[in-house]
Amino acid sequence: MLKAKGWEVLISPHNRVLTKDELTQMGKGYDAVLSQLTDKIDGSVVDGWGPSASSRQAVKIIANYAVGYDNLNVKEIAERGVMMTNTPDVLTETVAEHTFALILAIAHRIAESDKFSRAGKYHGWEPELLLGTDVSRKTLGVIGLGRIGSRVAHHAVKGFDMNVMYHDLKRNDAFEKEFGAVYKEKLEDLLSEADFISIHVPLLPATRHLINSERLRLMKPTAYLVNTSRGPIVDEIALRDALKTGIIKGAAIDVWENEPNLTPGLTDLENIVITPHTASATEETRQKMGEVAAKNIIEALEGRMPPNFIKV
Ligand code: GLV
Ligand code: GLV
Repeated sequence: MLKAKGWEVLISPHNRVLTKDELTQMGKGYDAVLSQLTDKIDGSVVDGWGPSASSRQAVKIIANYAVGYDNLNVKEIAERGVMMTNTPDVLTETVAEHTFALILAIAHRIAESDKFSRAGKYHGWEPELLLGTDVSRKTLGVIGLGRIGSRVAHHAVKGFDMNVMYHDLKRNDAFEKEFGAVYKEKLEDLLSEADFISIHVPLLPATRHLINSERLRLMKPTAYLVNTSRGPIVDEIALRDALKTGIIKGAAIDVWENEPNLTPGLTDLENIVITPHTASATEETRQKMGEVAAKNIIEALEGRMPPNFIKV
């Protein structure tokens, strides 16, 4: 889409996360940057991209190829007059599907059973082999009722007759009516009552380690925690210890506190399912995310308001 405009497009030659230096070098002299969630961009990176012949700031837009944008220091970037956009909506269904895949995987011990089968450990049917937990008619607690959280709640209610409770800064009457959902103003109440807890809040100073050891201890020993939002929202050391000591029954995480590294000891545990930040990774959705990011750049560079402008 960008090349079709006749524009010069520089694609990173590195099939890996860029260093700050590489990121700074690559953007120099360009009008737009299409960033990944691993590209940490602050005022100093933007300053490094420098001015163009015609304006104070060469780069006019940073189009983040992700819905989350905690990799951008939005305040410092906005102060420099650079626009920012993200890729909401197009990945909602895919992330909600992946979230449900994780819920079912941990409850039905799918990853563990796969490993068991491949290892040749199945020697004949047994009634108590790899017993899991039913999902249907249990209670799902959704932390953060945005687009993705609502879609997960939809699957829970429509597909599995689950009861839904949610915690958010805002109440949503229409949602409560449609899904019979119960609002929990206090996160603690949701934590102590839900059987499955799924996190869908953005990473902000206020949500870092929102789930810590104290809050894990509020959960039922039979409950499961699922995280497809951002790793640092869960204290991963506390999660490892809670899984190890039976404070909670299990967990499934797509996002890790220090990607691409996992807290030591986590992979020794059978009661956790781990995916490598791939919740939106389907062919369809990755294609759409690219189109949305490119569209935002085109709108911005042609002087129109990009559709997914991030207001700071
Ligand atoms: C992925 O984590 C995203 O924020 O899009
Ligand atoms: C299990 O395979 C059953 O037939 O109950």
